[in-house]
This record gives sequence, C-alpha cells and structure tokens, in this order.
Amino acid sequence: MKKIRSAITAIAAALPNDVLTNDDLSKMVDTSDEWIMQRIGIKERRILKDKNKGASDLGTEAVLNLFKKTGLKPEDIELVVCATITPDYPLPATANVISEKTGIKNAWSFDISAACSGYLYALEVASKFVESGEYKKVLLVTAEKMSAITNYADRTTCPLFGDAATATLLEPTTEEVGVMDYILRTDGIGYKHLLIKAGGSVNPATHETVDKGEHFLYQEGQTVFKYAVSRMADVSIEIMERNKLSAEDIAFLVPHQANMRIIDATAKRMNLSPEKVMINIQRYGNTTASTIPLCLWEWEKQLKKGDNLILASFGAGFTWGAVFLKWAYNS
Ligand code: UT7
Repeated sequence: MKKIRSAITAIAAALPNDVLTNDDLSKMVDTSDEWIMQRIGIKERRILKDKNKGASDLGTEAVLNLFKKTGLKPEDIELVVCATITPDYPLPATANVISEKTGIKNAWSFDISAACSGYLYALEVASKFVESGEYKKVLLVTAEKMSAITNYADRTTCPLFGDAATATLLEPTTEEVGVMDYILRTDGIGYKHLLIKAGGSVNPATHETVDKGEHFLYQEGQTVFKYAVSRMADVSIEIMERNKLSAEDIAFLVPHQANMRIIDATAKRMNLSPEKVMINIQRYGNTTASTIPLCLWEWEKQLKKGDNLILASFGAGFTWGAVFLKWAYNS
C-alpha cells in the first residue's frame, strides 16, 4: 500500500486594516525608522485595534476566506488545530471559539502553544492525523493578536510584532508531495529569556503584576538573537543534508519573520540566493505563528506542484525546527 502523506491543498489569511508604521512608533517611544530598518527590517505592521475583538476573530475571518476560496463547508471539517500564544481566553481553547464562529460542528478542536514555531509544530501534529488515514480534512489555523501582549511603552519590543491569522487545509495524498520530513526541537533553557511573567499559575494576576507591566511580552533580545541565528540555520542545513537537497534543489526557504538579520544568516548558510527566500517582514512584522503561512499565502501563485520548500522557525520556549515540504498544487 502506498504511503499516505499530508498535503497543504489550500491556504487563506486575514489581516487587520490598521497599519502601524515606524514613524507612528517614533511618536510613541524613543526610536526611529532608520534604527528599526537597520536592526530588524520592519517598516510597518497590521494591528487589530478593536479591543473587543480577539485572535479568534482574525482566525474566523481566515477560515471563512478559506471556505470561500475552496467551496468547502463547515461540516466537511473533522479536526481544527489552532496555533496561538494570544488566545482569546486562558480557557477554553481559541480553536473551540473559532469552530463556533465558523459553524464547524462535526469536528474536535484544540490549541497548540509553541510561539513562533507554532505553525511547524501544529503542521506536524495535524499531519499525523492525516497520515493515519482516518482524517480527510484537517484545518490548521494560526491566530495571533500580538498587539494585545505588546508593551507600546517599551522600545525594545514594540517595533517587532504585528497581528495576523491564517487557515491551512490539510488533506491526504498518495502522491510524492506534502510534508516529506521534519525536525522539531525544544530547549527549556530559553523560557526565562522570552516570556510573559504574570497571569499564569506561577504568578497570577494582581494589581501589582498589572502595575509592573508583567502581562506584556518580555524579551532579552540579544540572547534570543544569538540562539535564533544559529539554531534556525543549523536545523535547516540538517534537514537539507538528511534529504540530500542542495541549494539548487530548493525552490524557496520559508523562514519565520522575526528579524531580517536572522533570515539573511539562515539563507547564507544554506547557500540560497535572495530570490529563493520568502520575505514579507517589512509589511507585517513578526506575527508569531502566522509568519510562515502568511508567506505561503502571498507566494501561492508563484508555487508549482513538486516545488521543494524548507520551512524554518525559532521562538520562545525555546522552540525551533524545519519542515521539508513538497508543494502539492498549481494555482
Ligand atoms: O520571534 C521570536 C524570537 N525572537 C527573535 O528572534 C528576536 C531576536 N532578537 C532580535 O531580533 C534583536 O535582539 C532585537 C531586534 C530585539 C534588538 O536588536 P539588537 O541589535 O540586539 O539591539 P540591542 O538589544 O543590543 O540594543 C542595542 C541598542 C541599545 O542601546 P545601548 O544600550 O547600546 O545604548 C538599546 O537600548 O539599541 C537600543 N534600542 C533601540 N534604539 C532605538 C533597542 N531598541 C531600540 C529601538 N530604537 N526600538
């Protein structure tokens, strides 16, 4: 019997309309367009301004866009996996809320928390259900409202993040396309360097935690940078070597979009020319679990069936990894 693989067969996205530029930020904190472009490479990011809307609203829009694009109906979906670190609520899972808002009633759903590696972790988890042969239509949603946990008085983190959601449809195939290989890693040594200090069971919310700004994302940028720049390149090289892929064999690197310098270093180590690297960090910033699928969505028309893609990420935890994906369709 032929091996069942999990293939991406459609992808959609949702972006808020409001744009926050570097010039806007320079009126809020002591920063400049020049510093942000030089050190990070972000020009602007999208922000969901409506305080009453959460990650699930963006996720819902992405899923509805996917339904519209594919003609799929809510009742066709068997499983919803949502990668997010900005859930609507501590409980229940945002995947449950998205299922409700999109009319998905014949499925079960849960969240995955793996920060910037959320898409790769969730892709592997969701793909295992598809590869089992039991699941025919699995939805992988990424939904991030990073503006809800960003401290806009902290110049070291506020230029980095943006809001976005995506929806990826995974279906089984017996063709030689889809998820071919993966390497996923974690090292808990990183948890202190990139975290939200309060609001969990260790340090529940009090007036004091709010006053100290401990519900915002905290990052020791330089430490995270050092790990990210080596780990993301190492794992990308490892997956290339393991699959006997040279730079010529790769159509695109699809890197997590945290910092242009990290992306450039990874592409250089892989010996890839700039046109083989998907980059949209200038327009959207770091949308955490949404960066990689946002790239796939934007580049969809340029992708051809059989194209070899390397997806690579590094994020809080630390979590990191690479996936070797063969694109499954022509648009
Ligand atoms: O996606 C999840 C994983 N996260 C990442 O991969 C992020 C990894 N880290 C980074 O991308 C970088 O460390 C940052 C972009 C966060 C910071 O860049 P950096 O080159 O590491 O800057 P730094 O923290 O070493 O700061 C250099 C200087 C400092 O001033 P002094 O102490 O040298 O006087 C900062 O205070 O730049 C200052 N600075 C700023 N200046 C203007 C920090 N942020 C800003 C700012 N505007 N926004």
